[in-house]
Amino acid sequence: MNFLNEIKHIPVITVISETAKESNTEVYMVGGVVRDLILKRQRSDLDFLVIGDSLSFTEKVATKIGIQKVTKYRNFGTAHFKFQDYDIEFVGARKESYNRNSRKPIVEDGTFEDDIRRRDFTINAMAISLNQNTFGELIDKFNGYQDLQNKIIKTPLDPFQTFDDDPLRILRAFRFAAQLEFQVDESIMKAAKEMKERLRIVSQERITDEFLKILTSPKPSVGLKLLFDSEALQIIFTEIQNLAGVDQRQDYHHKDVFLHTLSVVDNVSKETENVWLRFAALVHDVAKPQTKKFVEGIGWTFHGHEELGARMMKNIFHRMKLPMHKLEYVEKLVRLHLRPIALAKEEVTDSAIRRLIVQAGDDLNDLITLCRADITSKNPQKIEKYLANYEAVMQKVLEVQEKDKLREFQSPVRGEEIMKICNIKPSKKVGEIKKAIEDAILDGVIENSYEAALAYLLKIKDDFLSENKS
Ligand code: CTP
Repeated sequence: MNFLNEIKHIPVITVISETAKESNTEVYMVGGVVRDLILKRQRSDLDFLVIGDSLSFTEKVATKIGIQKVTKYRNFGTAHFKFQDYDIEFVGARKESYNRNSRKPIVEDGTFEDDIRRRDFTINAMAISLNQNTFGELIDKFNGYQDLQNKIIKTPLDPFQTFDDDPLRILRAFRFAAQLEFQVDESIMKAAKEMKERLRIVSQERITDEFLKILTSPKPSVGLKLLFDSEALQIIFTEIQNLAGVDQRQDYHHKDVFLHTLSVVDNVSKETENVWLRFAALVHDVAKPQTKKFVEGIGWTFHGHEELGARMMKNIFHRMKLPMHKLEYVEKLVRLHLRPIALAKEEVTDSAIRRLIVQAGDDLNDLITLCRADITSKNPQKIEKYLANYEAVMQKVLEVQEKDKLREFQSPVRGEEIMKICNIKPSKKVGEIKKAIEDAILDGVIENSYEAALAYLLKIKDDFLSENKS
């Protein structure tokens, strides 16, 4: 299979292949870029495999295209530069094995084959030749092309070996499944279940990075379910794994909170790309297990789960090394996620609505998006009723906002001018005249302009200043 037509427009390709020829070095386009090229997915990271000294090869290419700044990681045999909109990386072929108790790879030079077989998945283990006689040819030693067509994630080697080399790949398998909406092979699930404990040697930053990529994917439940089924979720996010389970007491059972949460996350993801709103959806019921109580005659209750859940966020953010400037937002959404429905049910006062407006601040729309996503009933009548309730709350919000706007409204003719024109000192009367002008505007008697207000003042002033009005 040849990809000449697909790669020839990429600006740096010709220079790389010329340099390969001149320096008698084999070079390939490799890994995710080949996968994405076949899937026709846009990307800006281009990775190249150099059989030989990748650092000096990178220098040669950079010089030819006038790039001054090349970043080199000598220990890893990689070099990198930016060119136009692309991030270009060259890596020397490696025969890489990992020290079992550390994440630091032991890097040894290797052949093309050594390098390809140590990669994570067959769909990421394809290469396209940039060498003279085979330019554009796909090299696919592990059937990656077929696996892409079959939408399946498999490892090139025995998954136990592949995951032992880098346990993060357990999460990467689920991340690619979620991003591409692929299945993962049975053998991967088996190895993931047995090896999940090895995730503990992986740095939190790498874990969180993959986890957030799962949340960013089109349907996050795909990845979250795989995490759950393999029990890797227990290691990386215990609180979410603990949401699973259904209790039955007398005639009452409560829905499995984990399954409900998956639906809420997927629902929210249809509405927004905002990963923190998706995260809030994931954790909105996180304190249900701790607050669960069976009340005779009522059934299951979860009093205070929204407040306790909000208070759990700080620890979770610290532990998962999430950006602390997003903490307040997530806390707020968790804390307030029941509030709108409570306001829909009762005869609500303006001040209750005003409290919601103030507490939710700029995030009121996100809160309502979360609330709407939280409706996971299968009963269309119920769904309609709940949605109508939120509409009603938002209507009240608009009304109160409108009233508050009007309250801030001031007569275009100000107190100073009223005193001057009427020749009076600061007094209650100034306020009364001003209010009369404002009422005339609000009641539509005159239009809201300076000229109209001034004319109206001149008309009413004598009446106000006469004896019987004092
Ligand atoms: N790779 C690997 N094991 C890892 C990480 C990466 O084998 N733990 C290999 C894969 O061949 C992968 C390539 O390195 O395709 C590049 O890695 P990365 O940039 O992390 O992933 P991509 O596949 O490029 O995908 P994306 O950019 O979407 O993360």
